[in-house]
Amino acid sequence: MKTKYIATRGVDEYRASITKWVNAEDSVLEIGCEWGTTTVLIAPFCKQVIGTDVSGACIERARQEHEGIRFEVLDAFDVRAAADLGPQFTKIFIDVSGLSGYRSLLDLISLLTMYSTILQPDAIIVKSGALKDFAIHCVAWPS
Ligand SMILES: C[S@@+](CC[C@H](N)C(=O)[O-])C[C@H]1O[C@@H](n2cnc3c(N)ncnc32)[C@H](O)[C@@H]1O
Repeated sequence: MKTKYIATRGVDEYRASITKWVNAEDSVLEIGCEWGTTTVLIAPFCKQVIGTDVSGACIERARQEHEGIRFEVLDAFDVRAAADLGPQFTKIFIDVSGLSGYRSLLDLISLLTMYSTILQPDAIIVKSGALKDFAIHCVAWPS
């Protein structure tokens, strides 16, 4: 598996990761874009970006406020629909409400594994303080 997972705590870290992880060759997918505030910050650093959210109302507002950027309705758990959006995504940003705490850690790890298996991006940047805490305490035993 080639995908790296980057766990960030809070929206400031999530957005600060853009300049470190996104480059001009990237096709980027944001999952949980709400009104597109972060999608717009990603756009100048990459080849193309698509912002997505499960809420049709959010996507409608994102389209109105940010003409020229592509926004689509997508349920994060419908990984096939994400793949069908078109581009081979090299970076994926995930900021889905309800998925950042300890109670949802297994669901989040399952989601990350599905995206890394099916879409095979180089990196998934996720807003989850729980995953960050967990990752800091993990050491992979060398084999
Ligand atoms: C904290 S907001 C995202 C903020 C945005 N990333 C930003 O930086 O401005 C979380 C978003 O997750 C969306 N969401 C919740 N469940 C979702 C799901 N299953 N699939 C996709 N988006 C979901 C919500 O509609 C909400 O807009």
